[in-house]
Amino acid sequence: MEIRRLDTTDRDELKRWYEACLASVRAVQPTFVPKPFEEHLRKVLEPELGAERYDLVAVEDGVVLGGVMIYLPMEDNREIVWLVVDVDPAHRRRGVGRALVAAAEAEVPADRHEFIVPANVPADQVSDHPYRRFAESVGYAVSTVSTERARAWPVDRARLDELAVSPAGYRLESYVDGVPEAYRPSLGVLKGLIDVDAPTGDIEWEASPVSPEHYAEELRRHVASGRRLVESVALDASGGVVAYSEIVVPSVPERHMTQEGTLVRSDHRGHRLGLAVKVANLQALLDLEVKSPSIRTGNDDANRHMIAINEQLGFVPDLAEIAFVKRR
Ligand SMILES: CC(C)(COP(=O)(O)OP(=O)(O)OC[C@H]1O[C@@H](n2cnc3c(N)ncnc32)[C@H](O)[C@@H]1OP(=O)(O)O)[C@@H](O)C(=O)NCCC(=O)NCCS
Repeated sequence: MEIRRLDTTDRDELKRWYEACLASVRAVQPTFVPKPFEEHLRKVLEPELGAERYDLVAVEDGVVLGGVMIYLPMEDNREIVWLVVDVDPAHRRRGVGRALVAAAEAEVPADRHEFIVPANVPADQVSDHPYRRFAESVGYAVSTVSTERARAWPVDRARLDELAVSPAGYRLESYVDGVPEAYRPSLGVLKGLIDVDAPTGDIEWEASPVSPEHYAEELRRHVASGRRLVESVALDASGGVVAYSEIVVPSVPERHMTQEGTLVRSDHRGHRLGLAVKVANLQALLDLEVKSPSIRTGNDDANRHMIAINEQLGFVPDLAEIAFVKRR
Protein backbone atom coordinates (compact mmCIF):
# COMPACT_ATOMS: atom_id res chain seq x y z
CA MET A 1 0.00 0.00 0.00
CA GLU A 2 1.22 3.45 -0.92
CA ILE A 3 0.01 6.71 0.65
CA ARG A 4 0.39 9.80 -1.51
CA ARG A 5 -1.40 12.88 -2.78
CA LEU A 6 -4.56 12.27 -4.77
CA ASP A 7 -3.64 12.78 -8.43
CA THR A 8 -6.12 15.49 -9.43
CA THR A 9 -5.07 15.21 -13.08
CA ASP A 10 -6.11 11.56 -13.33
CA ARG A 11 -9.86 11.26 -13.89
CA ASP A 12 -9.85 7.49 -13.35
CA GLU A 13 -8.19 7.87 -9.99
CA LEU A 14 -10.58 10.69 -9.06
CA LYS A 15 -13.51 8.46 -9.91
CA ARG A 16 -12.11 5.57 -7.82
CA TRP A 17 -11.50 7.93 -4.91
CA TYR A 18 -15.06 9.30 -5.17
CA GLU A 19 -16.49 5.76 -5.17
CA ALA A 20 -14.38 4.67 -2.16
CA CYS A 21 -15.48 7.72 -0.12
CA LEU A 22 -19.10 7.17 -1.10
CA ALA A 23 -18.98 3.50 -0.05
CA SER A 24 -17.52 4.61 3.29
CA VAL A 25 -20.31 7.12 3.93
CA ARG A 26 -22.95 4.57 2.92
CA ALA A 27 -21.67 2.12 5.53
CA VAL A 28 -23.54 4.26 8.07
CA GLN A 29 -26.05 6.02 5.77
CA PRO A 30 -27.10 3.38 3.21
CA THR A 31 -29.45 5.69 1.32
CA PHE A 32 -27.09 8.70 1.22
CA VAL A 33 -27.36 10.61 -2.07
CA PRO A 34 -24.03 12.34 -2.82
CA LYS A 35 -23.26 15.34 -4.97
CA PRO A 36 -22.79 14.06 -8.52
CA PHE A 37 -19.16 13.24 -9.42
CA GLU A 38 -18.57 16.32 -11.60
CA GLU A 39 -19.93 18.61 -8.90
CA HIS A 40 -17.88 16.91 -6.19
CA LEU A 41 -14.74 17.34 -8.30
CA ARG A 42 -15.02 21.11 -8.20
CA LYS A 43 -14.23 20.94 -4.46
CA VAL A 44 -10.87 19.39 -5.29
CA LEU A 45 -10.06 21.31 -8.44
CA GLU A 46 -11.02 24.83 -7.35
CA PRO A 47 -8.99 26.53 -4.62
CA GLU A 48 -10.76 26.80 -1.25
CA LEU A 49 -11.78 30.24 -0.06
CA GLY A 50 -9.61 31.28 2.88
CA ALA A 51 -8.22 27.77 3.31
CA GLU A 52 -6.01 25.12 1.79
CA ARG A 53 -7.41 21.68 1.13
CA TYR A 54 -5.83 18.60 -0.31
CA ASP A 55 -6.31 14.85 -0.16
CA LEU A 56 -4.09 11.87 0.48
CA VAL A 57 -5.07 8.45 -0.82
CA ALA A 58 -4.08 4.91 0.11
CA VAL A 59 -3.56 2.97 -3.13
CA GLU A 60 -2.75 -0.69 -3.75
CA ASP A 61 -2.45 -2.16 -7.26
CA GLY A 62 -4.31 0.83 -8.67
CA VAL A 63 -7.21 0.36 -6.22
CA VAL A 64 -8.08 3.34 -3.99
CA LEU A 65 -8.55 1.84 -0.52
CA GLY A 66 -9.38 5.10 1.21
CA GLY A 67 -8.45 8.74 1.60
CA VAL A 68 -8.01 11.58 4.02
CA MET A 69 -8.90 15.19 3.34
CA ILE A 70 -6.64 17.75 4.97
CA TYR A 71 -8.23 21.17 5.45
CA LEU A 72 -6.20 24.11 6.78
CA PRO A 73 -7.90 27.45 7.54
CA MET A 74 -5.48 30.16 6.33
CA GLU A 75 -7.02 33.47 7.42
CA ASP A 76 -8.02 32.61 10.99
CA ASN A 77 -7.96 29.54 13.25
CA ARG A 78 -4.43 28.84 12.05
CA GLU A 79 -3.76 26.33 14.84
CA ILE A 80 -6.52 24.04 13.57
CA VAL A 81 -6.52 21.23 11.02
CA TRP A 82 -9.52 19.22 9.87
CA LEU A 83 -8.96 15.62 8.82
CA VAL A 84 -11.77 13.67 7.19
CA VAL A 85 -10.80 10.03 6.84
CA ASP A 86 -12.70 7.44 4.84
CA VAL A 87 -11.76 3.83 4.16
CA ASP A 88 -13.75 1.72 1.72
CA PRO A 89 -15.65 -0.85 3.84
CA ALA A 90 -14.16 -3.60 1.66
CA HIS A 91 -10.67 -2.66 2.92
CA ARG A 92 -11.22 -1.92 6.60
CA ARG A 93 -9.38 -3.49 9.56
CA ARG A 94 -6.12 -3.70 7.63
CA GLY A 95 -4.45 -0.60 9.09
CA VAL A 96 -5.40 1.71 6.21
CA GLY A 97 -7.20 4.25 8.42
CA ARG A 98 -4.34 4.30 10.92
CA ALA A 99 -1.77 4.82 8.13
CA LEU A 100 -3.82 7.63 6.53
CA VAL A 101 -4.17 9.54 9.79
CA ALA A 102 -0.44 9.14 10.58
CA ALA A 103 0.53 10.34 7.09
CA ALA A 104 -1.78 13.35 7.32
CA GLU A 105 -0.49 14.35 10.76
CA ALA A 106 3.11 14.09 9.51
CA GLU A 107 2.34 16.35 6.50
CA VAL A 108 0.91 19.22 8.47
CA PRO A 109 3.27 22.05 9.57
CA ALA A 110 4.28 21.86 13.24
CA ASP A 111 2.63 25.20 14.09
CA ARG A 112 -0.79 23.60 13.72
CA HIS A 113 -1.57 22.15 17.12
CA GLU A 114 -5.16 20.96 17.02
CA PHE A 115 -6.46 18.15 14.79
CA ILE A 116 -10.23 17.73 14.47
CA VAL A 117 -11.71 14.57 12.96
CA PRO A 118 -15.50 14.38 12.50
CA ALA A 119 -17.33 11.05 12.26
CA ASN A 120 -20.99 10.23 11.72
CA VAL A 121 -22.44 7.32 13.66
CA PRO A 122 -26.02 6.21 14.42
CA ALA A 123 -27.38 8.45 17.19
CA ASP A 124 -27.75 5.52 19.65
CA GLN A 125 -24.16 4.28 19.19
CA VAL A 126 -22.12 7.30 20.28
CA SER A 127 -20.48 5.52 23.22
CA ASP A 128 -19.41 2.30 21.52
CA HIS A 129 -19.34 2.64 17.73
CA PRO A 130 -16.28 1.16 15.94
CA TYR A 131 -15.40 4.62 14.54
CA ARG A 132 -14.99 5.80 18.11
CA ARG A 133 -12.75 2.84 18.93
CA PHE A 134 -10.71 3.69 15.86
CA ALA A 135 -10.35 7.36 16.82
CA GLU A 136 -9.34 6.49 20.37
CA SER A 137 -6.84 3.93 19.11
CA VAL A 138 -5.05 6.65 17.11
CA GLY A 139 -4.95 9.04 20.07
CA TYR A 140 -8.08 11.17 19.59
CA ALA A 141 -10.68 11.98 22.25
CA VAL A 142 -14.31 13.05 21.96
CA SER A 143 -14.55 16.84 22.07
CA THR A 144 -18.24 17.23 21.46
CA VAL A 145 -21.27 15.49 19.97
CA SER A 146 -23.81 17.04 17.60
CA THR A 147 -27.04 15.45 16.50
CA GLU A 148 -28.06 15.62 12.88
CA ARG A 149 -31.77 16.00 12.30
CA ALA A 150 -33.81 15.53 9.18
CA ARG A 151 -37.18 16.98 8.15
CA ALA A 152 -39.19 15.53 5.30
CA TRP A 153 -39.93 18.03 2.55
CA PRO A 154 -42.21 19.75 1.77
CA VAL A 155 -43.52 21.14 5.04
CA ASP A 156 -47.14 22.04 5.47
CA ARG A 157 -47.62 25.73 4.61
CA ALA A 158 -50.42 26.16 7.18
CA ARG A 159 -48.11 24.86 9.93
CA LEU A 160 -45.40 27.34 8.89
CA ASP A 161 -47.91 30.18 8.89
CA GLU A 162 -48.87 29.21 12.46
CA LEU A 163 -45.24 29.30 13.59
CA ALA A 164 -44.33 32.52 11.72
CA VAL A 165 -43.40 35.48 13.91
CA SER A 166 -42.56 39.12 13.02
CA PRO A 167 -40.76 40.59 16.02
CA ALA A 168 -41.53 44.32 16.42
CA GLY A 169 -38.77 46.66 15.27
CA TYR A 170 -37.28 44.24 12.72
CA ARG A 171 -37.80 43.69 9.00
CA LEU A 172 -37.65 40.14 7.61
CA GLU A 173 -36.54 39.58 4.01
CA SER A 174 -35.78 36.43 1.98
CA TYR A 175 -33.53 36.06 -1.06
CA VAL A 176 -32.68 33.36 -3.55
CA ASP A 177 -29.08 33.38 -4.89
CA GLY A 178 -27.72 36.35 -3.02
CA VAL A 179 -28.70 39.11 -0.65
CA PRO A 180 -28.30 42.75 -1.81
CA GLU A 181 -24.70 44.00 -1.79
CA ALA A 182 -25.45 46.50 0.98
CA TYR A 183 -26.28 43.64 3.37
CA ARG A 184 -23.18 41.58 2.72
CA PRO A 185 -20.73 43.25 5.14
CA SER A 186 -23.01 42.87 8.21
CA LEU A 187 -24.18 39.41 7.09
CA GLY A 188 -20.54 38.31 6.63
CA VAL A 189 -19.72 39.31 10.23
CA LEU A 190 -22.61 37.16 11.50
CA LYS A 191 -21.55 34.20 9.38
CA GLY A 192 -18.08 34.37 10.93
CA LEU A 193 -19.50 34.02 14.43
CA ILE A 194 -21.25 30.67 14.04
CA ASP A 195 -18.45 28.57 15.50
CA VAL A 196 -17.63 31.20 18.11
CA ASP A 197 -21.17 31.58 19.45
CA ALA A 198 -22.54 28.04 19.07
CA PRO A 199 -21.39 25.44 21.62
CA THR A 200 -18.47 23.40 20.23
CA GLY A 201 -17.12 21.36 23.14
CA ASP A 202 -13.57 22.22 24.16
CA ILE A 203 -12.51 23.61 20.78
CA GLU A 204 -11.91 27.38 20.87
CA TRP A 205 -12.77 29.03 17.57
CA GLU A 206 -11.74 32.47 16.37
CA ALA A 207 -14.21 34.55 14.38
CA SER A 208 -13.96 33.92 10.62
CA PRO A 209 -15.90 36.76 8.93
CA VAL A 210 -16.93 36.25 5.31
CA SER A 211 -15.86 39.24 3.22
CA PRO A 212 -18.17 40.50 0.45
CA GLU A 213 -15.63 39.12 -2.07
CA HIS A 214 -15.79 35.65 -0.49
CA TYR A 215 -19.55 35.83 -0.33
CA ALA A 216 -19.75 36.65 -4.03
CA GLU A 217 -17.34 33.87 -4.95
CA GLU A 218 -19.16 31.27 -2.84
CA LEU A 219 -22.43 32.30 -4.44
CA ARG A 220 -20.90 32.06 -7.91
CA ARG A 221 -19.78 28.50 -7.11
CA HIS A 222 -23.22 27.47 -5.88
CA VAL A 223 -24.88 28.82 -9.01
CA ALA A 224 -22.23 27.39 -11.36
CA SER A 225 -22.79 23.93 -9.82
CA GLY A 226 -26.57 24.11 -10.17
CA ARG A 227 -27.24 24.67 -6.46
CA ARG A 228 -29.38 27.45 -5.09
CA LEU A 229 -28.83 29.49 -1.97
CA VAL A 230 -31.91 30.57 -0.01
CA GLU A 231 -31.29 33.12 2.74
CA SER A 232 -33.54 34.98 5.13
CA VAL A 233 -32.33 37.95 7.15
CA ALA A 234 -33.68 40.20 9.88
CA LEU A 235 -32.70 43.87 9.67
CA ASP A 236 -32.81 46.30 12.58
CA ALA A 237 -33.93 49.93 12.35
CA SER A 238 -30.51 51.03 11.04
CA GLY A 239 -30.72 48.51 8.16
CA GLY A 240 -27.97 46.19 9.45
CA VAL A 241 -28.40 42.40 9.30
CA VAL A 242 -28.80 41.14 12.88
CA ALA A 243 -30.04 37.59 12.19
CA TYR A 244 -29.87 35.17 9.29
CA SER A 245 -30.59 31.62 8.22
CA GLU A 246 -29.46 29.89 5.02
CA ILE A 247 -30.31 26.69 3.17
CA VAL A 248 -28.48 25.20 0.20
CA VAL A 249 -30.70 23.53 -2.39
CA PRO A 250 -28.86 20.68 -4.16
CA SER A 251 -28.24 20.45 -7.89
CA VAL A 252 -30.13 17.15 -8.13
CA PRO A 253 -33.69 16.66 -6.82
CA GLU A 254 -32.97 13.30 -5.13
CA ARG A 255 -30.47 14.84 -2.73
CA HIS A 256 -31.28 16.46 0.63
CA MET A 257 -31.17 20.19 1.23
CA THR A 258 -28.67 21.44 3.80
CA GLN A 259 -29.55 23.87 6.53
CA GLU A 260 -26.39 25.92 6.92
CA GLY A 261 -25.96 28.56 9.60
CA THR A 262 -28.62 30.34 11.61
CA LEU A 263 -27.47 33.07 13.98
CA VAL A 264 -28.91 36.01 15.88
CA ARG A 265 -26.42 38.73 16.90
CA SER A 266 -25.92 38.46 20.68
CA ASP A 267 -27.39 41.91 21.47
CA HIS A 268 -30.59 41.00 19.58
CA ARG A 269 -31.33 37.65 21.20
CA GLY A 270 -34.55 36.95 23.09
CA HIS A 271 -36.94 38.37 20.45
CA ARG A 272 -37.64 35.09 18.62
CA LEU A 273 -35.58 36.22 15.66
CA GLY A 274 -34.08 32.72 15.31
CA LEU A 275 -37.49 31.19 14.75
CA ALA A 276 -38.51 34.15 12.57
CA VAL A 277 -35.65 33.79 10.06
CA LYS A 278 -35.92 30.00 9.96
CA VAL A 279 -39.64 30.02 9.24
CA ALA A 280 -39.25 32.82 6.67
CA ASN A 281 -36.61 30.74 4.92
CA LEU A 282 -38.81 27.64 4.78
CA GLN A 283 -41.64 29.77 3.37
CA ALA A 284 -39.26 31.06 0.69
CA LEU A 285 -38.34 27.45 -0.16
CA LEU A 286 -42.01 26.52 -0.53
CA ASP A 287 -42.43 29.44 -2.93
CA LEU A 288 -39.52 28.05 -4.98
CA GLU A 289 -41.28 24.67 -5.27
CA VAL A 290 -38.10 22.79 -4.44
CA LYS A 291 -38.23 19.05 -5.10
CA SER A 292 -35.73 17.62 -2.54
CA PRO A 293 -37.03 14.86 -0.25
CA SER A 294 -35.68 16.37 2.99
CA ILE A 295 -33.67 19.02 4.79
CA ARG A 296 -30.77 18.10 7.08
CA THR A 297 -29.34 20.11 9.93
CA GLY A 298 -26.86 19.48 12.72
CA ASN A 299 -26.65 21.02 16.18
CA ASP A 300 -24.28 20.52 19.05
CA ASP A 301 -26.15 18.67 21.78
CA ALA A 302 -25.52 21.60 24.15
CA ASN A 303 -27.32 24.02 21.80
CA ARG A 304 -30.71 23.87 23.53
CA HIS A 305 -32.24 26.94 21.89
CA MET A 306 -31.54 25.91 18.31
CA ILE A 307 -32.66 22.33 18.98
CA ALA A 308 -35.96 23.57 20.46
CA ILE A 309 -36.62 25.62 17.30
CA ASN A 310 -35.77 22.68 15.05
CA GLU A 311 -38.05 20.36 16.98
CA GLN A 312 -40.92 22.83 16.63
CA LEU A 313 -40.28 22.73 12.91
CA GLY A 314 -40.54 18.93 12.86
CA PHE A 315 -36.86 17.92 12.55
CA VAL A 316 -36.19 14.47 14.04
CA PRO A 317 -32.86 13.00 15.25
CA ASP A 318 -31.08 10.81 12.78
CA LEU A 319 -27.28 10.61 13.09
CA ALA A 320 -24.74 11.80 15.60
CA GLU A 321 -21.60 13.63 14.51
CA ILE A 322 -18.76 13.15 16.95
CA ALA A 323 -15.92 15.67 16.79
CA PHE A 324 -12.70 13.95 17.85
CA VAL A 325 -9.72 16.09 18.82
CA LYS A 326 -6.01 15.50 19.29
CA ARG A 327 -3.58 18.22 20.38
CA ARG A 328 0.21 18.26 19.93
C1 LIG B 1 -12.90 4.63 11.03
C2 LIG B 1 -12.17 4.15 9.77
C3 LIG B 1 -11.39 5.32 9.15
C4 LIG B 1 -11.21 3.01 10.19
O1 LIG B 1 -10.46 2.58 9.03
P1 LIG B 1 -9.68 1.17 9.04
O2 LIG B 1 -8.73 1.21 7.90
O3 LIG B 1 -10.64 0.05 9.13
O4 LIG B 1 -8.89 1.26 10.45
P2 LIG B 1 -7.54 0.47 10.86
O5 LIG B 1 -7.55 -0.88 10.23
O6 LIG B 1 -6.39 1.36 10.61
O7 LIG B 1 -7.78 0.31 12.43
C5 LIG B 1 -6.90 0.85 13.41
C6 LIG B 1 -7.44 0.51 14.79
O8 LIG B 1 -8.71 1.12 15.00
C7 LIG B 1 -9.56 0.25 15.78
N1 LIG B 1 -10.71 -0.17 14.94
C8 LIG B 1 -10.91 0.12 13.64
N2 LIG B 1 -12.06 -0.43 13.21
C9 LIG B 1 -12.60 -1.09 14.25
C10 LIG B 1 -13.76 -1.87 14.44
N3 LIG B 1 -14.61 -2.07 13.44
N4 LIG B 1 -13.99 -2.37 15.65
C11 LIG B 1 -13.13 -2.20 16.65
N5 LIG B 1 -12.00 -1.47 16.55
C12 LIG B 1 -11.73 -0.92 15.37
C13 LIG B 1 -8.70 -0.94 16.15
O9 LIG B 1 -8.06 -0.63 17.37
C14 LIG B 1 -7.71 -0.97 14.98
O10 LIG B 1 -6.51 -1.61 15.30
P3 LIG B 1 -6.41 -3.24 15.18
O11 LIG B 1 -7.00 -3.63 13.86
O12 LIG B 1 -4.93 -3.48 15.27
O13 LIG B 1 -7.21 -3.78 16.32
C15 LIG B 1 -13.18 3.56 8.75
O14 LIG B 1 -14.03 2.67 9.41
C16 LIG B 1 -14.01 4.59 8.03
O15 LIG B 1 -13.67 5.01 6.93
N6 LIG B 1 -15.11 5.06 8.64
C17 LIG B 1 -15.99 6.07 7.98
C18 LIG B 1 -15.46 7.46 8.02
C19 LIG B 1 -15.25 8.01 9.41
O16 LIG B 1 -16.13 8.06 10.25
N7 LIG B 1 -14.04 8.48 9.65
C20 LIG B 1 -13.69 9.10 10.87
C21 LIG B 1 -13.39 8.08 11.91
S1 LIG B 1 -12.81 8.84 13.39
